[in-house]
Amino acid sequence: MGTAKLILDGQEYELPTVVGSEGEVGIDISKLRSLSRAITVDSGYGNTGSCHSAITFINGEQGILRYRGYPIEQLAEHASFSEVCYLLIYGALPNRQQLEDFNEGLTYHSMLHEDMKKLFEGYPPNAHPMAILSSMVTSLATYYPNAMQEDRIDLNILRLLSKATTIASLSYKKSIGQPFIYPRNDLSYTENFLHMMFAVPAEPYEINPVRERALNLLLILHADHEQNCSTSTVRMVGSSQANLYASIAAGISALWGPLHGGANQKVIEMLQMIHEDGDNYQKYVDMAKDKSSGFRLMGFGHRVYKNFDPRARILKKAADEVLEDLGVNDPLLDIARNLEQVALEDEFFVKRKLYPNVDFYSGIIYSAMTIPTNMFTVMFALGRLPGWIAQWKEMREDPKTRINRPRQIYTGPKERAYEPIEDR
Ligand code: ACO
Repeated sequence: MGTAKLILDGQEYELPTVVGSEGEVGIDISKLRSLSRAITVDSGYGNTGSCHSAITFINGEQGILRYRGYPIEQLAEHASFSEVCYLLIYGALPNRQQLEDFNEGLTYHSMLHEDMKKLFEGYPPNAHPMAILSSMVTSLATYYPNAMQEDRIDLNILRLLSKATTIASLSYKKSIGQPFIYPRNDLSYTENFLHMMFAVPAEPYEINPVRERALNLLLILHADHEQNCSTSTVRMVGSSQANLYASIAAGISALWGPLHGGANQKVIEMLQMIHEDGDNYQKYVDMAKDKSSGFRLMGFGHRVYKNFDPRARILKKAADEVLEDLGVNDPLLDIARNLEQVALEDEFFVKRKLYPNVDFYSGIIYSAMTIPTNMFTVMFALGRLPGWIAQWKEMREDPKTRINRPRQIYTGPKERAYEPIEDR
């Protein structure tokens, strides 16, 4: 263990350093306040390590993303989403038997308690499916109140992963006024989701293998991303020992924002707007450069990736292939490519190291799969579930976990006396 020295008002403090398995160095300031009365300030936590984690490694400068050591490119090419769920949550790739058992658990737990259907009835028809997903996941805690019992954690992890796809597809069916489609035990996790989303009782539904492969890929690419906004929220809520469902529901809410997972919906809305405006993408690049416009290129930029986002690279290629295989000709894909080209050559974006992120091409693929725009962020949430669960589990099992509680620099008024109302 090394040390770092901090000189504060002439007084020297020695602080221990920690080094991760890929060589990243952290200065452990956990004792700083008790030693010196000072805290560190790091708005947006851009330079703060909030935990030790063995789940996901990112090197933003080199565009590296690995789950449990496995490069995202290899997982995207070879793995199934359920294999990746197992890998993230349990730390190793499953053998054949483990994967079979895990898949069986996912299938077996996909039905919702019949009473939950009544909860869906209460939402207005145009309710955003993220609101439904978040509140339904919290509601699962009322059906499984023993979720935090040690010997039931794994069971509830399966329940959550499985029932989330049912909740998501029912929220879609509700929004278009179609009858709910129940899960089928002969289908895989991804097939079952497509079946519940797109089947109608009147006719048999055939799963299109291109759609199923694309779904598998999208879910894998979203499965974890270390301490991002929603994952940190899950850990924050979970650190108070709130139950699994409540912690994950909080993550879903954090993901909804347009600066995070909600960006995938905003990207398509932006591309549509550009299309309706005569495909004039240069105008929007100029607007994004003009801070006073308040406009940002959605799907561009990332807190961590400063060279390229490896997920966006995979998705850009996949977008071409999926659209071709499905026979879809989407003018928005051309706009996206042109926009990317122009932005990547523009000094404003180059200087700030702004590149397309995972959300830039994902919406085009979702659209080609006929997934409606307001379901895009729900798709992200389904993909991110295993990551949230793995991080929640790791936090719970780490004996060093304390309730998360940052400090602040107070900038309000100094002490003053209460003024009676007639004197104000
Ligand atoms: N368009 C135009 N300018 C941008 C963009 C953008 N998309 N993103 C960042 N910038 C500019 C900022 O104005 C700032 O400029 P300045 O240094 O002159 O002030 C600089 O680049 C740095 O931006 P910050 O907002 O400070 O970067 P931060 O790391 O806090 O934010 C974020 C990252 C939220 C992703 C940001 O790039 C953004 O808003 N992007 C658009 C939304 C988006 O695509 N979100 C999805 C992120 S990926 C995910 O969550 C799955």
